[in-house]
Amino acid sequence: SLKCNTTRTIGMLVTKSTNPFFAEVVHGVEEYCYGEGYTLILCNTEGNLEKQRDYLRMLAEKRVDGLLVMCSDLDEKLLELLERKKDLPMVIMDWGPESPHTDKIQDNAELGGYVATKYFIEHGHTNIGCLSGHPDKSTCRERLKGFYKAMDEAKLDVNESWLLEGDFECESAVIAANKFIAMKDRPTAIFCFNDIMAMALISTFEQAGLRVPDDISIIGYDNIDLAPYFSPPLTTIHQPKRRLGKTAIEILMERVKDKEHERRIFEMAPELVVRKSVKDLN
Ligand code: RIB
Repeated sequence: SLKCNTTRTIGMLVTKSTNPFFAEVVHGVEEYCYGEGYTLILCNTEGNLEKQRDYLRMLAEKRVDGLLVMCSDLDEKLLELLERKKDLPMVIMDWGPESPHTDKIQDNAELGGYVATKYFIEHGHTNIGCLSGHPDKSTCRERLKGFYKAMDEAKLDVNESWLLEGDFECESAVIAANKFIAMKDRPTAIFCFNDIMAMALISTFEQAGLRVPDDISIIGYDNIDLAPYFSPPLTTIHQPKRRLGKTAIEILMERVKDKEHERRIFEMAPELVVRKSVKDLN
């Protein structure tokens, strides 16, 4: 109510809620909101700066109590402006621009990249490629760092023509798959930076007669609910999506209560989930 200066509404910006990763995180947030009697206003920015600005303005007009930001495309200038105003408590989730003031919760993406690559190496793979995302996204840089670390440790060369860039959407994986298919010299294993790209990659390979994991091994990232039901069941890096959502909103609520609280960064440990998309070459 206006009397206690709260509207019991929370705004949340996500890049695109059609990606099951985001949908599952949102579910964690929504569960908490429902339980606490808060209403969640969900906004898809879709990488569109104008949409982002419009939504931020609308959410400010609605006087939301706090804001969760889970969009890679968050504009740095906008963030600075929000931080300077200081009247809208905020938590950055998953990835976002470096900011010295805003609370943040993310997975240890370097570790995730390292663990996935090491698993391939332990299973006899030496020719390993990646389907990454744009390097301006912190999660992509970190996952790639983990990949290089594992390759370096095993004294394996990285073949840069096997490092393809996607955009975390299926279409980009289809394009990448066709590039891999056209290669004379192909990797035996590909680390995909999210599950939906891994799935699109696998189905494009299968249509071209390349079998997973017999001809080529794949590891995804996220462990979306669908991953165990895919064919083959996908080996992937698990991110605790519901917990990410729930913890983010808890941090936000603490921030709402104490706006001067010291800035905090929470890191979640990614875990490998072994299923059937990697062949043991040993
Ligand atoms: O599927 C979306 C991906 O982008 C996830 O891996 C998430 O961590 C984000 O960075």
